[in-house]
Amino acid sequence: MKIITIIGSGLIGRSWALVFISGGFSVKIYDAQPGLASSALHSIRQQLEQLQQRNMLRGELSASQQGALLSACDDLKQAVEGAFFIQECVFEDLAVKQGVFLDVERLVGSDVILSSSTSCLVPSNVFSKVQHKSRCLVAHPVNPPYLVKLVELVPHPETCSSVMDTAHALMTQVGQVPVRLHRELDGFALNRIQMAVIAESWRLVQDGVISVKDVDLVMSEGLGMRYAFIGPMETMHLNAPQGLGDYMQRYGPGIQRVLSSFGPTPDFFSDQAQSVITEMSGLIPPEQLSARIERRDQLLSQLAQLKKDH
Ligand SMILES: NC(=O)c1ccc[n+]([C@@H]2O[C@H](COP(=O)([O-])OP(=O)(O)OC[C@H]3O[C@@H](n4cnc5c(N)ncnc54)[C@H](O)[C@@H]3O)[C@@H](O)[C@H]2O)c1
Repeated sequence: MKIITIIGSGLIGRSWALVFISGGFSVKIYDAQPGLASSALHSIRQQLEQLQQRNMLRGELSASQQGALLSACDDLKQAVEGAFFIQECVFEDLAVKQGVFLDVERLVGSDVILSSSTSCLVPSNVFSKVQHKSRCLVAHPVNPPYLVKLVELVPHPETCSSVMDTAHALMTQVGQVPVRLHRELDGFALNRIQMAVIAESWRLVQDGVISVKDVDLVMSEGLGMRYAFIGPMETMHLNAPQGLGDYMQRYGPGIQRVLSSFGPTPDFFSDQAQSVITEMSGLIPPEQLSARIERRDQLLSQLAQLKKDH
Protein backbone atom coordinates (compact mmCIF):
# COMPACT_ATOMS: atom_id res chain seq x y z
CA MET A 1 0.00 0.00 0.00
CA LYS A 2 1.52 3.35 -1.01
CA ILE A 3 1.60 5.85 1.82
CA ILE A 4 1.34 9.63 1.67
CA THR A 5 1.93 11.77 4.76
CA ILE A 6 0.12 15.05 5.33
CA ILE A 7 1.81 17.46 7.74
CA GLY A 8 -0.63 20.02 9.15
CA SER A 9 -4.27 19.05 9.58
CA GLY A 10 -5.99 22.39 8.88
CA LEU A 11 -8.25 23.31 5.98
CA ILE A 12 -5.80 22.33 3.24
CA GLY A 13 -4.32 19.28 4.99
CA ARG A 14 -7.80 17.79 5.38
CA SER A 15 -8.65 18.54 1.76
CA TRP A 16 -5.45 16.88 0.49
CA ALA A 17 -6.23 13.84 2.64
CA LEU A 18 -9.68 13.56 1.00
CA VAL A 19 -8.12 13.84 -2.45
CA PHE A 20 -5.38 11.23 -1.84
CA ILE A 21 -7.66 8.62 -0.22
CA SER A 22 -10.09 9.02 -3.14
CA GLY A 23 -7.23 7.67 -5.29
CA GLY A 24 -6.77 4.68 -2.97
CA PHE A 25 -3.61 5.90 -1.19
CA SER A 26 -3.05 5.27 2.48
CA VAL A 27 -2.81 8.67 4.20
CA LYS A 28 -1.18 9.45 7.54
CA ILE A 29 -2.01 12.84 9.05
CA TYR A 30 0.30 14.62 11.48
CA ASP A 31 -0.17 17.91 13.32
CA ALA A 32 2.17 19.65 15.75
CA GLN A 33 -0.73 20.29 18.10
CA PRO A 34 -1.53 17.01 19.87
CA GLY A 35 -5.06 15.74 19.24
CA LEU A 36 -5.63 17.86 16.11
CA ALA A 37 -4.73 15.06 13.68
CA SER A 38 -7.27 12.74 15.38
CA SER A 39 -10.00 15.36 15.24
CA ALA A 40 -9.16 15.92 11.56
CA LEU A 41 -9.61 12.19 10.99
CA HIS A 42 -13.02 12.31 12.63
CA SER A 43 -14.15 15.29 10.57
CA ILE A 44 -12.84 13.83 7.28
CA ARG A 45 -14.78 10.60 7.90
CA GLN A 46 -17.93 12.64 8.52
CA GLN A 47 -17.27 14.58 5.32
CA LEU A 48 -16.86 11.32 3.39
CA GLU A 49 -20.31 10.16 4.54
CA GLN A 50 -21.85 13.50 3.56
CA LEU A 51 -20.16 13.42 0.14
CA GLN A 52 -21.41 9.88 -0.42
CA GLN A 53 -24.97 10.85 0.56
CA ARG A 54 -24.86 13.77 -1.89
CA ASN A 55 -23.40 11.55 -4.64
CA MET A 56 -20.29 13.73 -4.69
CA LEU A 57 -17.75 11.17 -3.49
CA ARG A 58 -14.71 10.95 -5.76
CA GLY A 59 -12.92 7.73 -6.73
CA GLU A 60 -13.94 4.09 -6.95
CA LEU A 61 -14.03 3.28 -3.22
CA SER A 62 -16.96 3.75 -0.80
CA ALA A 63 -16.85 6.32 2.01
CA SER A 64 -16.04 3.65 4.61
CA GLN A 65 -13.32 2.10 2.41
CA GLN A 66 -11.75 5.53 1.93
CA GLY A 67 -12.09 6.32 5.64
CA ALA A 68 -10.21 3.11 6.48
CA LEU A 69 -7.20 4.40 4.53
CA LEU A 70 -6.71 7.24 7.02
CA SER A 71 -4.66 7.31 10.17
CA ALA A 72 -3.57 10.04 12.58
CA CYS A 73 -0.19 10.37 14.31
CA ASP A 74 1.01 12.77 16.98
CA ASP A 75 4.58 11.60 16.39
CA LEU A 76 6.38 12.90 13.29
CA LYS A 77 8.70 9.88 13.00
CA GLN A 78 5.75 7.50 12.96
CA ALA A 79 3.87 9.76 10.57
CA VAL A 80 6.54 9.77 7.85
CA GLU A 81 7.49 6.11 8.18
CA GLY A 82 6.95 4.26 4.89
CA ALA A 83 5.75 7.35 2.99
CA PHE A 84 6.94 7.96 -0.58
CA PHE A 85 5.38 11.45 -0.77
CA ILE A 86 5.03 14.10 1.94
CA GLN A 87 2.62 16.99 1.50
CA GLU A 88 3.29 19.84 3.92
CA CYS A 89 0.24 21.97 4.84
CA VAL A 90 1.35 23.98 7.90
CA PHE A 91 0.91 27.74 8.51
CA GLU A 92 2.03 30.06 5.74
CA ASP A 93 5.15 31.03 7.68
CA LEU A 94 8.57 30.57 6.11
CA ALA A 95 10.41 29.69 9.34
CA VAL A 96 7.75 27.12 10.34
CA LYS A 97 7.88 25.45 6.92
CA GLN A 98 11.70 25.44 6.86
CA GLY A 99 11.69 23.85 10.34
CA VAL A 100 9.23 21.16 9.24
CA PHE A 101 11.35 20.16 6.23
CA LEU A 102 14.53 20.19 8.34
CA ASP A 103 12.88 17.76 10.80
CA VAL A 104 11.34 15.61 8.07
CA GLU A 105 14.59 15.25 6.11
CA ARG A 106 16.29 13.76 9.18
CA LEU A 107 13.61 11.06 9.31
CA VAL A 108 13.19 9.96 5.68
CA GLY A 109 15.31 8.49 2.87
CA SER A 110 16.72 10.79 0.18
CA ASP A 111 14.25 9.49 -2.42
CA VAL A 112 11.10 10.57 -0.53
CA ILE A 113 9.43 13.48 -2.33
CA LEU A 114 8.96 16.62 -0.24
CA SER A 115 6.08 18.79 -1.41
CA SER A 116 4.78 22.06 0.03
CA SER A 117 1.26 23.52 -0.29
CA THR A 118 2.52 27.09 0.07
CA SER A 119 0.52 29.76 -1.77
CA CYS A 120 2.98 32.62 -1.63
CA LEU A 121 6.49 31.37 -0.81
CA VAL A 122 8.96 30.32 -3.51
CA PRO A 123 10.52 26.82 -3.33
CA SER A 124 14.10 28.14 -3.05
CA ASN A 125 13.11 29.77 0.27
CA VAL A 126 10.84 26.97 1.56
CA PHE A 127 13.50 24.29 0.95
CA SER A 128 16.63 26.35 1.72
CA LYS A 129 17.47 24.13 4.72
CA VAL A 130 16.94 20.82 2.91
CA GLN A 131 20.11 19.02 1.80
CA HIS A 132 18.69 16.92 -1.07
CA LYS A 133 16.75 19.62 -2.90
CA SER A 134 16.36 17.58 -6.07
CA ARG A 135 13.27 15.86 -4.49
CA CYS A 136 11.51 19.10 -3.51
CA LEU A 137 8.63 20.94 -5.12
CA VAL A 138 5.60 23.06 -4.38
CA ALA A 139 2.22 21.51 -5.17
CA HIS A 140 -0.07 24.51 -4.77
CA PRO A 141 -3.77 23.59 -4.58
CA VAL A 142 -6.79 25.84 -5.04
CA ASN A 143 -9.32 26.00 -2.24
CA PRO A 144 -11.31 23.75 -1.94
CA PRO A 145 -9.05 21.20 -3.75
CA TYR A 146 -11.73 18.48 -3.67
CA LEU A 147 -13.92 20.63 -5.94
CA VAL A 148 -11.37 22.81 -7.77
CA LYS A 149 -8.87 20.39 -9.20
CA LEU A 150 -6.03 22.57 -10.44
CA VAL A 151 -2.63 22.02 -8.80
CA GLU A 152 0.37 24.17 -9.70
CA LEU A 153 3.61 22.19 -9.61
CA VAL A 154 6.53 24.54 -9.03
CA PRO A 155 10.12 23.27 -9.02
CA HIS A 156 13.04 24.37 -6.86
CA PRO A 157 15.94 25.36 -9.17
CA GLU A 158 17.55 22.00 -8.28
CA THR A 159 14.43 19.81 -8.62
CA CYS A 160 14.90 16.72 -10.77
CA SER A 161 12.56 16.44 -13.76
CA SER A 162 11.68 12.87 -12.71
CA VAL A 163 10.35 14.26 -9.40
CA MET A 164 8.13 16.69 -11.32
CA ASP A 165 6.99 13.76 -13.50
CA THR A 166 6.14 11.63 -10.43
CA ALA A 167 4.21 14.48 -8.82
CA HIS A 168 2.38 15.13 -12.09
CA ALA A 169 1.46 11.44 -12.42
CA LEU A 170 0.33 11.25 -8.78
CA MET A 171 -1.90 14.31 -9.08
CA THR A 172 -3.42 12.98 -12.28
CA GLN A 173 -3.99 9.56 -10.71
CA VAL A 174 -5.95 11.08 -7.82
CA GLY A 175 -8.10 13.12 -10.22
CA GLN A 176 -6.51 16.56 -9.81
CA VAL A 177 -5.44 18.62 -12.82
CA PRO A 178 -1.73 19.44 -12.49
CA VAL A 179 0.05 22.19 -14.41
CA ARG A 180 3.82 22.60 -14.48
CA LEU A 181 5.74 25.84 -14.05
CA HIS A 182 9.14 25.59 -15.72
CA ARG A 183 10.73 27.79 -13.07
CA GLU A 184 9.81 29.35 -9.74
CA LEU A 185 8.30 32.81 -9.74
CA ASP A 186 6.68 34.93 -7.02
CA GLY A 187 2.91 34.29 -7.07
CA PHE A 188 3.31 31.27 -9.40
CA ALA A 189 0.83 31.43 -12.31
CA LEU A 190 -2.62 31.29 -10.70
CA ASN A 191 -2.09 34.08 -8.20
CA ARG A 192 -0.33 36.33 -10.73
CA ILE A 193 -3.34 36.06 -13.02
CA GLN A 194 -5.78 36.38 -10.12
CA MET A 195 -3.92 39.45 -8.85
CA ALA A 196 -4.12 41.12 -12.28
CA VAL A 197 -7.91 40.61 -12.14
CA ILE A 198 -8.08 41.85 -8.53
CA ALA A 199 -6.03 44.97 -9.35
CA GLU A 200 -8.17 46.09 -12.26
CA SER A 201 -11.47 45.22 -10.52
CA TRP A 202 -10.40 47.18 -7.44
CA ARG A 203 -9.24 50.14 -9.54
CA LEU A 204 -12.52 50.31 -11.48
CA VAL A 205 -14.56 50.35 -8.27
CA GLN A 206 -12.27 52.73 -6.38
CA ASP A 207 -12.22 55.15 -9.33
CA GLY A 208 -16.02 55.23 -9.32
CA VAL A 209 -16.36 53.59 -12.75
CA ILE A 210 -18.50 50.65 -11.60
CA SER A 211 -20.05 49.24 -8.40
CA VAL A 212 -18.73 46.24 -6.45
CA LYS A 213 -21.84 44.29 -7.39
CA ASP A 214 -21.50 45.03 -11.09
CA VAL A 215 -17.77 44.32 -11.31
CA ASP A 216 -18.47 40.88 -9.84
CA LEU A 217 -21.20 40.40 -12.49
CA VAL A 218 -18.65 41.24 -15.20
CA MET A 219 -16.81 38.10 -14.13
CA SER A 220 -19.63 35.77 -13.03
CA GLU A 221 -22.00 36.49 -15.95
CA GLY A 222 -19.36 37.43 -18.54
CA LEU A 223 -15.74 36.32 -18.53
CA GLY A 224 -16.25 33.52 -16.02
CA MET A 225 -18.92 31.81 -18.13
CA ARG A 226 -16.34 30.71 -20.67
CA TYR A 227 -13.30 30.63 -18.41
CA ALA A 228 -14.76 27.64 -16.56
CA PHE A 229 -14.26 25.65 -19.78
CA ILE A 230 -11.73 27.45 -21.98
CA GLY A 231 -8.88 29.71 -20.91
CA PRO A 232 -7.96 33.20 -22.16
CA MET A 233 -5.68 31.82 -24.89
CA GLU A 234 -8.33 29.56 -26.44
CA THR A 235 -10.94 32.30 -25.97
CA MET A 236 -8.89 34.62 -28.20
CA HIS A 237 -8.13 31.79 -30.65
CA LEU A 238 -11.86 31.13 -31.10
CA ASN A 239 -12.80 34.79 -31.37
CA ALA A 240 -11.31 35.48 -34.84
CA PRO A 241 -11.95 33.51 -38.05
CA GLN A 242 -8.25 32.58 -38.48
CA GLY A 243 -7.39 32.07 -34.82
CA LEU A 244 -4.99 33.77 -32.43
CA GLY A 245 -2.70 35.44 -35.04
CA ASP A 246 -5.74 36.91 -36.74
CA TYR A 247 -7.18 37.97 -33.36
CA MET A 248 -3.98 39.87 -32.53
CA GLN A 249 -3.93 41.56 -35.95
CA ARG A 250 -7.46 42.80 -35.32
CA TYR A 251 -7.43 43.52 -31.60
CA GLY A 252 -3.74 43.60 -30.50
CA PRO A 253 -3.29 47.39 -30.91
CA GLY A 254 -6.47 48.02 -28.89
CA ILE A 255 -5.33 45.62 -26.16
CA GLN A 256 -1.96 47.40 -25.95
CA ARG A 257 -3.64 50.82 -25.81
CA VAL A 258 -5.97 49.82 -22.97
CA LEU A 259 -3.22 47.98 -21.07
CA SER A 260 -1.04 51.09 -21.14
CA SER A 261 -3.84 53.00 -19.31
CA PHE A 262 -3.99 50.60 -16.34
CA GLY A 263 -1.91 52.73 -13.96
CA PRO A 264 -0.03 51.77 -10.79
CA THR A 265 -0.88 49.06 -8.26
CA PRO A 266 -3.93 50.20 -6.25
CA ASP A 267 -3.49 51.17 -2.60
CA PHE A 268 -5.62 48.63 -0.74
CA PHE A 269 -5.32 50.52 2.57
CA SER A 270 -6.41 54.07 1.69
CA ASP A 271 -9.69 55.75 2.77
CA GLN A 272 -11.01 55.13 -0.74
CA ALA A 273 -10.13 51.44 -0.37
CA GLN A 274 -12.12 51.35 2.87
CA SER A 275 -15.21 52.45 0.95
CA VAL A 276 -14.77 49.44 -1.41
CA ILE A 277 -14.65 47.15 1.63
CA THR A 278 -17.71 48.84 3.16
CA GLU A 279 -19.63 48.44 -0.11
CA MET A 280 -18.80 44.71 -0.26
CA SER A 281 -19.72 44.19 3.40
CA GLY A 282 -23.05 45.93 2.75
CA LEU A 283 -23.84 43.40 0.02
CA ILE A 284 -22.78 40.37 2.06
CA PRO A 285 -22.62 41.17 5.80
CA PRO A 286 -20.18 39.09 7.89
CA GLU A 287 -23.02 37.03 9.42
CA GLN A 288 -23.95 35.76 5.95
CA LEU A 289 -20.43 34.64 5.02
CA SER A 290 -20.75 30.99 6.07
CA ALA A 291 -24.03 30.57 4.13
CA ARG A 292 -22.38 32.13 1.06
CA ILE A 293 -19.37 29.79 1.42
CA GLU A 294 -21.75 26.83 1.54
CA ARG A 295 -23.55 28.13 -1.57
CA ARG A 296 -20.17 28.60 -3.34
CA ASP A 297 -19.14 25.02 -2.59
CA GLN A 298 -22.50 23.64 -3.77
CA LEU A 299 -22.22 25.58 -7.03
CA LEU A 300 -18.60 24.50 -7.48
CA SER A 301 -19.60 20.89 -6.99
CA GLN A 302 -22.32 21.20 -9.65
CA LEU A 303 -19.82 22.86 -11.98
CA ALA A 304 -17.27 20.11 -11.30
CA GLN A 305 -19.95 17.57 -12.25
CA LEU A 306 -20.75 19.47 -15.45
CA LYS A 307 -17.05 19.62 -16.36
CA LYS A 308 -16.75 15.88 -15.72
CA ASP A 309 -19.62 15.20 -18.13
CA HIS A 310 -18.15 17.30 -20.98
N1 LIG B 1 -6.54 28.16 2.73
C1 LIG B 1 -6.36 28.30 1.41
O1 LIG B 1 -7.22 28.81 0.69
C2 LIG B 1 -5.10 27.78 0.77
C3 LIG B 1 -5.07 27.52 -0.61
C4 LIG B 1 -3.88 27.01 -1.19
C5 LIG B 1 -2.76 26.80 -0.38
N2 LIG B 1 -2.83 27.09 0.95
C6 LIG B 1 -1.63 26.87 1.78
O2 LIG B 1 -1.79 25.68 2.53
C7 LIG B 1 -1.06 25.79 3.75
C8 LIG B 1 -1.99 25.47 4.92
O3 LIG B 1 -3.05 26.40 4.94
P1 LIG B 1 -4.40 26.15 5.76
O4 LIG B 1 -5.39 27.15 5.26
O5 LIG B 1 -4.74 24.71 5.78
O6 LIG B 1 -3.91 26.57 7.25
P2 LIG B 1 -4.56 26.19 8.66
O7 LIG B 1 -4.19 27.29 9.59
O8 LIG B 1 -6.01 25.83 8.48
O9 LIG B 1 -3.80 24.84 9.09
C9 LIG B 1 -2.44 24.78 9.43
C10 LIG B 1 -2.24 23.55 10.32
O10 LIG B 1 -0.83 23.34 10.46
C11 LIG B 1 -0.58 22.93 11.80
N3 LIG B 1 0.83 23.24 12.11
C12 LIG B 1 1.40 24.44 12.35
N4 LIG B 1 2.73 24.30 12.53
C13 LIG B 1 3.00 22.97 12.40
C14 LIG B 1 4.19 22.20 12.45
N5 LIG B 1 5.36 22.77 12.73
N6 LIG B 1 4.09 20.88 12.25
C15 LIG B 1 2.89 20.29 11.98
N7 LIG B 1 1.74 20.97 11.91
C16 LIG B 1 1.80 22.30 12.12
C17 LIG B 1 -1.55 23.75 12.63
O11 LIG B 1 -1.75 23.18 13.92
C18 LIG B 1 -2.80 23.71 11.73
O12 LIG B 1 -3.61 22.58 12.05
C19 LIG B 1 -0.48 27.21 3.77
O13 LIG B 1 0.83 27.19 3.32
C20 LIG B 1 -1.37 27.96 2.81
O14 LIG B 1 -0.73 29.05 2.19
C21 LIG B 1 -3.97 27.55 1.55
